[in-house]
Amino acid sequence: MPSFNKLPLQVLLLLGNNYLIIMIDIKGIKKTYANGTHALNDVNLMLDKKVTSIIGRNGAGKTTLLRILSTQLLPTSGTVLVNGHDIINDVSAIREMTVSIPQEARLIYYRNAFDSVRLYLGARGAGISEASKKAEKALKTVGLWEWRNHISEDLSGGMKRKVFVAMALAADSELVILDEPTTGLDPLSRFEVWSAIKKLKGQVIITTHYMEEAQALSDEIVMMDHGKVLSQGKISDLLRDFAGMVRIESARKSKGSKKVAGMWVSYAKKKEAEQFVMRGDIVKQITLDDLFIKMGVDIES
Ligand SMILES: Nc1ncnc2c1ncn2[C@@H]1O[C@H](COP(=O)(O)OP(=O)(O)O)[C@@H](O)[C@H]1O
Ligand SMILES: [Mg+2]
Repeated sequence: MPSFNKLPLQVLLLLGNNYLIIMIDIKGIKKTYANGTHALNDVNLMLDKKVTSIIGRNGAGKTTLLRILSTQLLPTSGTVLVNGHDIINDVSAIREMTVSIPQEARLIYYRNAFDSVRLYLGARGAGISEASKKAEKALKTVGLWEWRNHISEDLSGGMKRKVFVAMALAADSELVILDEPTTGLDPLSRFEVWSAIKKLKGQVIITTHYMEEAQALSDEIVMMDHGKVLSQGKISDLLRDFAGMVRIESARKSKGSKKVAGMWVSYAKKKEAEQFVMRGDIVKQITLDDLFIKMGVDIES
């Protein structure tokens, strides 16, 4: 693969097909917290797609990885280059090109949506009139303009999350990092946040444990468990082994079935599905959950 970092900006812009490709080159990253928890164990990844979703159950190491990428946390060892900038030595260059919304991000409750976005832009160096113009445009884009004068406390969970996405939109960053942007939201709010995320111009990295979210949004998936990368690729490639198959959930054990969340899970060809339905089993479409099951990860724990 050519090193895009060495190419001039104009070429990069063309290569990016409307957006700038940011190469994130992660090599041998380990993170051991002070209490001895090994959160990341030798993570090696090249991230260069428009939207990458990092998926994995709680404790897999997703947040730790994102905090390292966004220069909030130092790795114990290893290197990360974000568009050629080192996360340890070029912190300001990376922060300038990145918007990072942490998992636990909360809006200030008495501040209205318009001010939340404007003040965020101000903190990033924009003047008042520029900040107001950009905030207006972003709030209109995510469908929150009518709510601009409502304080955060009066916004629904989904609206609050959309205010954060509006901040990322307005900042016009090359790289947007969103940690669990829809966790805890109802399905409709999640859907609205997804469409807001789709409007981001820059490259996006999100974490999620909602498989359908990863499927709806991403060009590439990174599967993590126990601080390691299990697999990386396009959803269609990752699911290739399951082509033409369905998932069978049964109360009874059968040959080759695996126990997941109190049910016995096995796989069958789509055209054989009817006989399982007749037996009283549940037949489901394949999702990314099935990849974790195949790799022996107990997705329930
Ligand atoms: N500040 C911390 N101190 C100690 N252990 C931590 C800290 N943050 C996370 N961990 C641990 O590191 C592991 C990975 O956590 P995290 O990166 O938050 O995973 P995820 O985001 O995938 O749920 C977990 O075992 C978690 O308990
Ligand atoms: Mg997390």
